[in-house]
Amino acid sequence: MNKPKMIIGMHLGNGYGALAGAWRMPWVDPTNYTDYDTRVRQAQAAERGKFQFIFLPDGPSAVSADIDFEAPGFNLDVMMTLAAVARGTERIGLVATGSTTFNEPYNLARQFKALDVMSHGRAGWNAITSAGDDVAANYGVRIPSSADRYGRAHEFIQLVQSLWGSWGKDAWVHDQATGQFAKSEEVAPVNLSGKYVASRGPLYIPPSEQGQPVVFHAAGLSNNALSLAGRYASAVIGAAFSIEEAIEHRTAFRNAAEAAGAILMKSSSYPA
Ligand SMILES: Cc1cc2nc3c(=O)[nH]c(=O)nc-3n(C[C@H](O)[C@H](O)[C@H](O)COP(=O)(O)O)c2cc1C
Repeated sequence: MNKPKMIIGMHLGNGYGALAGAWRMPWVDPTNYTDYDTRVRQAQAAERGKFQFIFLPDGPSAVSADIDFEAPGFNLDVMMTLAAVARGTERIGLVATGSTTFNEPYNLARQFKALDVMSHGRAGWNAITSAGDDVAANYGVRIPSSADRYGRAHEFIQLVQSLWGSWGKDAWVHDQATGQFAKSEEVAPVNLSGKYVASRGPLYIPPSEQGQPVVFHAAGLSNNALSLAGRYASAVIGAAFSIEEAIEHRTAFRNAAEAAGAILMKSSSYPA
């Protein structure tokens, strides 16, 4: 019988805490917002405390609703933060949000794979489509329809995973004796072109120890989110406020994964 094992992640926002007024607490350094050493110390504490991963959400929306008194909830730049944290930790997983609407697949694939290599296989990508005109305004556009956001997300994730896989496992030879750097036959362009995104590839980054970053999806229960997560996500970050609600969400995401063809491990010890 499989023994259920709880995996605990820690949400790491702006360096203060989850609440918008946390920066005013007397025991909090009010300059944490821009202090990367603080982020590293927080991640080290999470690692010591046996958390499996830290999760850095990202908008990026302009400023908080009440910038006079409230700190924005996000990191200055999630990839920069995780790069700093990667160098100061050894085991903890490093998960950040990356929008499929306001990025190009090649940029995002390169950043997350570089992080994965740098951290020796600890990177995870929370693939989300972004919501809200406040975020879209930073890119000079209105937020696209759900159909367009999720249509692009399907293409985007496939393209990113293809780019991540564009180097074979043993492609990087780096043999000084023979002078061979890499096996060209194991480095292949992806040549993918869809309705929304396209890339020739390949990347120029060899696989990390875990092969590729882990794909996450953070969502509620919209049909589009369920089918995206069901198809691509190895982990889902949800927002449930009771055990019953959490079970409902878990069941919905499991059903979506099975509908997409996944064969899930079952444990008789999990609550029904
Ligand atoms: C726990 C949780 C974390 C989320 N984190 C992010 C995030 O970091 N960035 C973001 O743009 N959206 C985030 N979202 C929003 C979702 O990606 C999604 O846009 C939202 O649930 C609306 O769903 P819809 O796009 O299917 O309408 C998060 C949602 C949940 C439930």
